[in-house]
Amino acid sequence: MIQVAVLGYGTVGSGVVEVINTNSSSINKKAGEEINIKYVLDLRDFPGDPVQEKIVHDFDIILNDPEIRIIAEVMGGVEPAYTFTKKALLAGKSVCTSNKELVARHGAELLQIARENNSNYLFEASCGGGIPIIRPLNSSLTADEIDEITGILNGTTNYILTEMFEKGSDFADVLKEAQDKGYAERNPEADVEGYDACRKIAILSSLAFGRQVSFEDIYTEGITGITAADIKYVKAMGKTVKLLAYSRKVDGNIYAMVAPEIVGVDDPLYSVNGVFNAIFVHGNVLGDAMFYGSGAGKLPTASAVAADIVDEARHLNKNIMSFWSPEKLELADISSSAK
Ligand code: HSE
Repeated sequence: MIQVAVLGYGTVGSGVVEVINTNSSSINKKAGEEINIKYVLDLRDFPGDPVQEKIVHDFDIILNDPEIRIIAEVMGGVEPAYTFTKKALLAGKSVCTSNKELVARHGAELLQIARENNSNYLFEASCGGGIPIIRPLNSSLTADEIDEITGILNGTTNYILTEMFEKGSDFADVLKEAQDKGYAERNPEADVEGYDACRKIAILSSLAFGRQVSFEDIYTEGITGITAADIKYVKAMGKTVKLLAYSRKVDGNIYAMVAPEIVGVDDPLYSVNGVFNAIFVHGNVLGDAMFYGSGAGKLPTASAVAADIVDEARHLNKNIMSFWSPEKLELADISSSAK
């Protein structure tokens, strides 16, 4: 039996417990062993919820339990997630996470610690919700030189822009709906100002280019300045607006940016609507590939975390992640690029 601990019983954490319970028989078969959630760490209690018997309030109980091999860190935010992840990896426990803020900030270091301690740091759920994109970049596309990643990487803003386009809805009302549906971050500023998409494109670029791309270096513009009137004009032109994140290698220079852009019907990203995300990748050997699916929400994100848990269960003590160097990859000035 493989014992697992889940850090955080919020939207994604409760989703991870649900996915592992719902699909237990196929998950156990695929993992080759029974996967059991032994602890759930949260500050709160959940009286009446069967999870209560697994609730602990002290991370050291998990850290000091030699039975725990895999930890799902789904707390979000940098601290205490960073401290807990570091301690877990140093103790040889693998960590699977949806925490894009932490991966974007400390991914290189945490991957290195994992590599040195026979553990793995897996973060499929950090980009694109339920869409497989980290694993393809880490394995299936590893023989390629990637020269472009362009994506709709934030479900909340895509949902807002879609509703504004289709129903002429008001920005604030749709944001409230996205929050109610569990798509938005605790602080939705991260979504609507483009910071969430920025962290995700920084992670994808770091993995694709093998060096740390700092999210602080990426020019980022959100959708808060877009009005119902703007959308109406763009619609009248037969086009739409999408919040795009991209990273491109041109003549040896890397350019990255997050900004709303006008997209025509002939662009495959035109029809990516609602909470869906899509990620276009170009590799020198592969040519084009596009990854499309549910980009946010409890179960799609939990599905990716649970998949990492199963993958880790199959590869205990074997390193399965390529890591990127902590050395910073300098981005070229976006204003000098014709895009
Ligand atoms: N707030 C994020 C989004 C959640 O809307 O895409 C998934 O990372």
